[in-house]
Amino acid sequence: MLKINEDYLKLRGSYLFSDIAKKVKAFGEANPDKKIIRLGIGDVTLPLVPAVTDALHSAVDEMGRKDTFRGYAPDLGYDFLRDTIVKKVYEPLGCKIESDEIFVSDGAKSDSGNIQEIFARDNVIAVCDPVYPVYVDSNVMAGRTGSFDELNGQWSDVLYMPCTKENNFTPEIPEKEADVIYLCFPNNPTGEVITKDELQKWVDHANHTGAVIIYDAAYEAYISEDNIPHSIYECDGAQSCAIELRSFSKNAGFTGLRLGYTVVPKELIRGGTKLNALWARRHGTKYNGAPYIVQRAGEAVYSDIGQAQIKEQIAYYKRNATYIYESLKNLGFEVYGAINSPYIWLKTPDQMTSWEFFDMLLNRAAVVGTPGVGFGPHGEGYFRLTAFGDHEATKEAVERINLLTR
Ligand SMILES: Cc1ncc(COP(=O)(O)O)c(C=O)c1O
Repeated sequence: MLKINEDYLKLRGSYLFSDIAKKVKAFGEANPDKKIIRLGIGDVTLPLVPAVTDALHSAVDEMGRKDTFRGYAPDLGYDFLRDTIVKKVYEPLGCKIESDEIFVSDGAKSDSGNIQEIFARDNVIAVCDPVYPVYVDSNVMAGRTGSFDELNGQWSDVLYMPCTKENNFTPEIPEKEADVIYLCFPNNPTGEVITKDELQKWVDHANHTGAVIIYDAAYEAYISEDNIPHSIYECDGAQSCAIELRSFSKNAGFTGLRLGYTVVPKELIRGGTKLNALWARRHGTKYNGAPYIVQRAGEAVYSDIGQAQIKEQIAYYKRNATYIYESLKNLGFEVYGAINSPYIWLKTPDQMTSWEFFDMLLNRAAVVGTPGVGFGPHGEGYFRLTAFGDHEATKEAVERINLLTR
């Protein structure tokens, strides 16, 4: 008799953002006259820049002509995009990454969920707490996380690395050995970063123990301070221990278009096997390549005009981040993140739980944020706001929060 994958049944409730969406929907139906301001889910709101839409239009035209039509894309990505990434992303950082170490995909969510497939089931994973939920849930589905403890909100076989204000939201290297270590900087949800020196310690640790670091750099475009690495390959020795995930979503507004890539260096060898070859096999078997038109759009992001245009967009979101951060700080909130990130991580006032604060903000100000506890037990008592909204709406949301505090 057929048996389903029972590991899926272990997953906790529904995905965080579905819970939020349900509450917001119910509030909207009960209060049709109230304008809801959404600063919850990390989705962009500005349209694609002209350099990208121009590239899309011309690629669509190519697809409509017999002599320039393209069928299946190469599984691992078109050379024009992989070469451009090497030249425009890694060479300026001084990182020696080659085209065949870059795997183009439909985004960092799929890659961050799928990458665990190349590791054995009995590996121990280590994650930050709080954490982007996909890292944990994809390992739950793979049967790697043990059982869930309702009391402490943790999986028995996962190594949690608390990120608290005491450690500046940068995890300490765990005493117990982990095999696969997920790191994300600038961090979702805390908006905090890691210095190059601190990241170097992780790289040295992984090279020493044989662990592999999955480094999610989806938000690197928001880094504004010096000495904050844009790529883990800026650290010495990272090529022999780290896989990097990148996305076009938050730097170029591709959340609806879908494009990302994963870097697996050829130097990264475990169990005598190149992980580059394993990932190439996995990618080639289960993925048929990102669409040609989208890869052309991705290439256009790195043109001079594309760079100038997306920098303006990022500046717009960063202005929102600074506005929220400074305003809430002036109102007496304890706030983190924002400086190198589109996320503002705030401590809930008056010992409120994350969900109590969520409900209060929704019901009394019609402002939607994300409860910190949804990202893990150490997110309890925190709340995430995003800078991806319209600037005027963001200002109004802050004003509504201001009125609540009076
Ligand atoms: C840390 C992190 N990684 C990956 C993603 C997903 O990126 P993509 O849109 O490329 O799938 C997100 C999206 O919110 C994220 O926060």
